[in-house]
Amino acid sequence: MGDYITNKVSEERQRWTKRDSRSPIENGMDMLRLLEYPALLGKTYLDHAGTTVWAKSLTTQFAQLMSEELFGNPHSESTPSKESDRRVEEARRKALGFFNADPEEWDLVFVANATAAIKLVHDCFRDHATETGRNWWYGYHKDAHTSLVGVREGTRMHRCFRSDREVNLWIDSRGLGGAAPHDIGLFAYPAQSNMNGRRLPLDWPAKIRNRVKADVYTLLDAAAYVSTTQLDLSHVNAAPDFVAVSFYKIFGFPNLGALLVKKSSSKPLLSRKFFGGGTVEMVIAVNDAWHSKKKVLHSRLEDGTLPFTSIFALDLAIDIHRKLYGQSPMKYISMHTSRLIKMLYDQLIALRHSNNVPVVRVYKDSASVYGEPHLQGATIAFNIQKPTGGLVSFMEVEKEADAQGIYVRSGSLCNPGGLATNLEWSPRELREAYKEGHKCSEPFSELFGKAIGVVRVSLGAMSNEADCEHLVQFIKETYIDRVYAEGGPIVLPEFIARPRTPQTPPSNNLGKEVAACVLQVSEREVQTPRNKQEPALGLLSPPPQIDEWPVPESRSPSSKEKSLSTKSSSSRIKRFRRSMMEVLHAGKAH
Ligand SMILES: Cc1ncc(COP(=O)(O)O)c(C=O)c1O
Repeated sequence: MGDYITNKVSEERQRWTKRDSRSPIENGMDMLRLLEYPALLGKTYLDHAGTTVWAKSLTTQFAQLMSEELFGNPHSESTPSKESDRRVEEARRKALGFFNADPEEWDLVFVANATAAIKLVHDCFRDHATETGRNWWYGYHKDAHTSLVGVREGTRMHRCFRSDREVNLWIDSRGLGGAAPHDIGLFAYPAQSNMNGRRLPLDWPAKIRNRVKADVYTLLDAAAYVSTTQLDLSHVNAAPDFVAVSFYKIFGFPNLGALLVKKSSSKPLLSRKFFGGGTVEMVIAVNDAWHSKKKVLHSRLEDGTLPFTSIFALDLAIDIHRKLYGQSPMKYISMHTSRLIKMLYDQLIALRHSNNVPVVRVYKDSASVYGEPHLQGATIAFNIQKPTGGLVSFMEVEKEADAQGIYVRSGSLCNPGGLATNLEWSPRELREAYKEGHKCSEPFSELFGKAIGVVRVSLGAMSNEADCEHLVQFIKETYIDRVYAEGGPIVLPEFIARPRTPQTPPSNNLGKEVAACVLQVSEREVQTPRNKQEPALGLLSPPPQIDEWPVPESRSPSSKEKSLSTKSSSSRIKRFRRSMMEVLHAGKAH
């Protein structure tokens, strides 16, 4: 094992010393990877949106702390318990600081993960509506993660906003089509889509507060966003009321989440009915059912014993992130990942089969621009296109990448709205797919001639150019001009919506084709760049401006002819056709 690591280290060192020293930051990053992320040696990890990788210093320091000090349950009064409590409060303060949230204005509730934070808001709103006898209305954006969509089950009055335009119209109309003036409302959306990495407008909370007539609160799901950029909550009036995050997406470890709550907006959260150990001052259990809840918001909402050792690890993680990436680590990481993802995106959309058909079909939101961190995160969702026009199964791509040591994510990614709009699935088709046996956890690759999932690659703080180059090389060598036993364009039944973008746009006009290959799904919005990035101050030297970076030349494609028989879906299509014909005949008969 020792030899294996030594060899890998030397291989990796040779690899990066041989490279043409394009940028000091790349060399710095390669060295950082050797020292802090040895688990990445010889591997291309491209699922940072799933979880990123923890630094060696973090686990080493955490192990040292755990083995050398005595800690008690923070709810007890002994010296070791008080030390635990002190460290928990220190971590809470530091975590607030990490998001520029003033502790006078904000509270932070530790929870298991972003989903638990979202569910906590759900429970509180449901109970608040019951307590006050008001209806509660819930609105969510179509890019929402499944965990945000699930909040709708707490109320009968909910609405999915199908585009930014619908949100803006709702705001401009002062809330028409939303909560009634005497209702309580909650509008939730992701700061970044976990599917395609598109970043959504951050000015909605202030607009909603100022324009919508009803009492509508805002919940920002920042789980995907915070992993590669700075969430800045310093402007209280512009900030959302509640923010959900998962820390493992930023630091890899610990497995912990938080709900950040603007103190001035905490009223609905005070109504939560459930109490547990730790959240009450006193309880009468026998012959009476009386209790008094704790007054401080986080104490009132943190049920049971906190995951206190994970919270200690969070404290270390924040310090170590600053040591590795500078005093403003997320600003540096944003610039670094934004540059890399643009480079990767440009290379992927330029890949062609010999007949000029694009190899990669990227699902990019029309409002996003790669290289503009306020519009797009470090994620690309795509499918591989065959020379004949059909799509290669995303599961096949994930499996084949895995065999090459390239780790990506594929499927519907817990983003039902993103999947439906990007891949053009109607509710009726989705229900039919479910009847056929498709599930999020056991997805079909394609059905009725359409893809029902995507491949997602996502970068993290410690990603480097070699990761991107490895993926591009793998796609070139594996998929360009590959010959398939089957898989031309499938003739769709009439009633199945066809993808709006032609699957095979053979033409000599490369520019137009590149544009055509990028599936545009929602309305364009003109936005001016915000958040100009600052250089990092840490171990890594400051990166130059994004457009100074040379983009590596793409190598000429190797035309490998391979044949592969992909899983047939024709019997399923036949069955589906039959069942749809029955539906149509039944419709005509009425
Ligand atoms: C945008 C977004 N929201 C919510 C979640 C759920 O996070 P968790 O599984 O940590 O609760 C994720 C996870 O990928 C996410 O990306």
